[in-house]
Amino acid sequence: MKGLILAGGNGTRLRPLTHTGPKQLIPIANKPNILYCLEDLRDAGITDIGIILGNNMPDMVRQLLKDGSDHGVRITYIEQGEPKGIAHAVGCAEEFMGDEPFVVYLGDNILQGGIRYMVDEFSRGDMEALVALTPVDDPTKFGIAELDAEGNLIGLEEKPERPRSDLAMVGIYFLRSSIFPIIKKLKPSWRNELEITEAIDLLRRETGKVVARKVRGWWKDTGRPEDIIHANRMVLAEMKGKVEGTVEQGATLEGEVTVGEGTLIKAGSVIQGPVIIGKNCSIGPDARIGPHVAIGDLCSVVNGEVESSIIMSGTTISCSKRIVDSLIGSGCVIESQQRKSGLRLVLGENSQLRA
Ligand code: TTP
Repeated sequence: MKGLILAGGNGTRLRPLTHTGPKQLIPIANKPNILYCLEDLRDAGITDIGIILGNNMPDMVRQLLKDGSDHGVRITYIEQGEPKGIAHAVGCAEEFMGDEPFVVYLGDNILQGGIRYMVDEFSRGDMEALVALTPVDDPTKFGIAELDAEGNLIGLEEKPERPRSDLAMVGIYFLRSSIFPIIKKLKPSWRNELEITEAIDLLRRETGKVVARKVRGWWKDTGRPEDIIHANRMVLAEMKGKVEGTVEQGATLEGEVTVGEGTLIKAGSVIQGPVIIGKNCSIGPDARIGPHVAIGDLCSVVNGEVESSIIMSGTTISCSKRIVDSLIGSGCVIESQQRKSGLRLVLGENSQLRA
């Protein structure tokens, strides 16, 4: 079986962060989202992986993943260019897939517990497709599946006005080469995209061999800042702490805390896990970090409070205000010495905020 990770798309909902790179590279607990997808495929025994590249700085994806050997996989890059829909992206991989069955993984999705159990079921069975489902709070925003009383799939609909269930298709699809002629028949939808939901529903109607399975762990589509912050919380909640840097006497670490090599936590700082701090950072002397914070490499947090946030590499914070539920790009400077209400921020790369 082969794998396909989608790293194209516009990422408009994540601007300004996607002005400086593809959204699939945004770090969750200090690891780019796309690496979670790659590792899930690899850990399920899938090592021959195609990566769909879009037109938003695709070279950054190539630079990160290279030929895949650092991660124990073999990567083939496939250019989609302009985003014309998920089904269009899958169609671009026809030649790469040949006659092999394959798994499509959206590069901005994250799933707890991996995909091995679904890979095993799909490779054993004679189904044409397997879709993975999970209950969601707002079914009008997702591709929604309808099941009969026995759990058989009887319909799939993209962003229905009147949803027939709360079971959303997660961004992981198990397919065979039978999907390619169907994709060729699709017409662009109201949002001018070739929809994977429509393709798989057509396949279901033509073959009767599409099954749906509920995923075992939590799932998150990290398309919006609040989803990324939420995913960061979920991943950190399962992290085991490890201190490789230096913690001065008089600094307090509670719960699961990871401190990277070369990082200094100064006396007076309080780190309330789960928290991950990258390499070569300087924290304190008067900083309160956590819970649920990820700080990238080469950051400095001098004072203030940071909670439930992602701070990307090379950012400096010297701020007496509380920073909460924030997504802060790399190379930012945040300075403020007025003590009033807290800050909720989404800051793109190299932003400066002084108050
Ligand atoms: P979406 O989040 O649906 O689309 P988008 O990336 O354009 O984002 P936005 O709506 O904020 O503008 O895409 C889901 C995943 O599929 C994501 O990882 C990007 C990828 N994708 C492609 O690779 N090619 C495409 O043509 C599209 C539409 C998405």
